[in-house]
Amino acid sequence: MNDGGERMERIDKLLSATGRWSRKEVKELVRQGRVLADGRTVQKPEEKADLAAVCLTVDGAEVDCAPFVYVMLYKPAGLLSATEDKNQPTVLDLLPPELKKRGLFPVGRLDKDTTGLLLLTDDGALAHELLSPKKHVDKVYRAEVEGRVDGRDVAALAAGLVLGDGTVCLPAGLEPLGDGSACLVTLREGKYHQVKRMLAARGKPVRALHRLRMGPLTLDGGLKPGQWRFLTPRERAELRG
Ligand code: URA
Repeated sequence: MNDGGERMERIDKLLSATGRWSRKEVKELVRQGRVLADGRTVQKPEEKADLAAVCLTVDGAEVDCAPFVYVMLYKPAGLLSATEDKNQPTVLDLLPPELKKRGLFPVGRLDKDTTGLLLLTDDGALAHELLSPKKHVDKVYRAEVEGRVDGRDVAALAAGLVLGDGTVCLPAGLEPLGDGSACLVTLREGKYHQVKRMLAARGKPVRALHRLRMGPLTLDGGLKPGQWRFLTPRERAELRG
């Protein structure tokens, strides 16, 4: 056995792990001769291939068999950022069963009423990196507020707010939009209800909150609330920095 032996994986497993097809569907694709491995038609679903090197195609289109899955979701209001809940729907309910089975989880949380960019993955190491307070990954939110944010709020957030309960916030960005009834808030950390608590502390309670960006990822303008797509290879590479 050479070193590459550990990287050999069943082709049906590789394809179903992408979340696009169930094992049963893969079996059917193989039976129909629609799956090629390095240009050669795969004869049996249980055939093995080097997961790090093989080029698999289905109907001529290359399939990305990366070991982890990364999903960009436009979180709608009303869903919990959790993997499961006894009483309420979660963001996982928006994904097809093949993906749910992979054990994806949201990278960080958005409040139930917050909308916008949520990353889901089964890559625990990357999630840890993105959430680590030491990494200071920027998160950009658009907030609509009661009242108007102004230059004093900008300065207060830039200096680092101390909330009523003593919570110390890192310096944060605040950019008023239009007449100041909306603004962009950039955080480098993710404390509980942080944007809402910071703006409430400035006497500008949040009426609606939407996440636009997380690190290098920007919410795809083509997605509607509740829709999702896989990250592109470029987005994945950018996330890894
Ligand atoms: N800050 C909040 O207050 N809520 C969120 O959902 C995200 C950041």
